Amino acid sequence: MRAFVVTEVDGSLYLGVEDREASASSSDDVLVTVEYSGVNFKDALVASVGGRVRRVASLIGGVDAAGVVAHSSNEEWPVGTRVAVHGGDLGVARDGGFASSLYTPARFLSALPDSVSTRDAMIVGTAGFTAMASVLALEHHGIDTSGEILVTGASGGVGSLSLTFLSVRGYRAVASTGSLEQSDWLIQRGATRVIERDQIADKPDRVLGTERWSGAIDCVGGETLHHILRSLQYGAAVAASGLVASAELHTNVYPFITRAVSLLGIDAVEARSHTRSAVWDAIGEVAPNIDFSALVDQAVSLEELPESLDKIRRSQTRGRILVEPNR
Ligand SMILES: NC(=O)c1ccc[n+]([C@@H]2O[C@H](COP(=O)([O-])OP(=O)(O)OC[C@H]3O[C@@H](n4cnc5c(N)ncnc54)[C@H](OP(=O)(O)O)[C@@H]3O)[C@@H](O)[C@H]2O)c1
Repeated sequence: MRAFVVTEVDGSLYLGVEDREASASSSDDVLVTVEYSGVNFKDALVASVGGRVRRVASLIGGVDAAGVVAHSSNEEWPVGTRVAVHGGDLGVARDGGFASSLYTPARFLSALPDSVSTRDAMIVGTAGFTAMASVLALEHHGIDTSGEILVTGASGGVGSLSLTFLSVRGYRAVASTGSLEQSDWLIQRGATRVIERDQIADKPDRVLGTERWSGAIDCVGGETLHHILRSLQYGAAVAASGLVASAELHTNVYPFITRAVSLLGIDAVEARSHTRSAVWDAIGEVAPNIDFSALVDQAVSLEELPESLDKIRRSQTRGRILVEPNR
């Protein structure tokens, strides 16, 4: 089969398409015929020299994929089941989705709702899964549709899908972006208004900012997350999943002890099967109301991946990059 391989030797990185056999780590592994994959921010970290995300010297990249079960000894995952595959060490320490097939442990599998095609599933991908997990976390916290929800990194994968999911579930989503030229596109994706990312900082000389947001979805981290915590309304929450700006968080306890705000951690990687089912079911519910194709920045072949990885590394994407491994 054809596969996009990332190899690091003596501090040099080699990226290219090779002929490889799909290999199982265990006899319990399920073989999936891959129809689509997607490019995530994490894939760019895996395809970087000396990064700490990739944990082996050489592997087939791709932290997610969607396709059909081709071989399985597991009764829960019969041949022909349409699935999304993501999480664990897929594309990080074991072969991932940038290939025409892959072996995976069953715990990384999610059955796709009937309303979600394998193509739609990889337009959603790990980024969209994280977006819907964030929306569900805010709802579980009790946040209703009365106020405004801030979404940071809005033109990226997690951000744009958060806008889309919030909008179809009846929320007013405010897009924060460093790419104001994408404002029209962000409004079309579901934002009720767009602000420049510098506008998140409010009254920086005071302990707390104005109570602006009834909730927030943040994939940026660092100073952005600090400013969100200072500007949440009483009892509000931020669902935090990312670190594109920084993994550091410098804050104080005032938002928590005087405004009862909550910091909700979102993880797509080790999500348990009941969480995966709940998130994909929620995506299935809203799917008929979403034009997923409008979220595709570009569709690429395995050969085109180096350019796409570079693009996402430099934050030049809008929405999602879809990978067609059989093109
Ligand atoms: N917790 C989990 O399980 C999980 C799952 C998926 C993703 N993530 C994380 O979520 C983050 C986003 O992933 P993604 O796939 O959506 O990435 P992405 O498509 O590259 O989007 C990131 C967006 O963040 C904004 N941005 C970039 N650099 C920034 C900076 N220095 N300061 C402020 N904003 C900046 C840009 O949007 P604008 O131009 O609109 O500002 C960019 O499009 C990553 O850190 C990723 O690792 C975590």
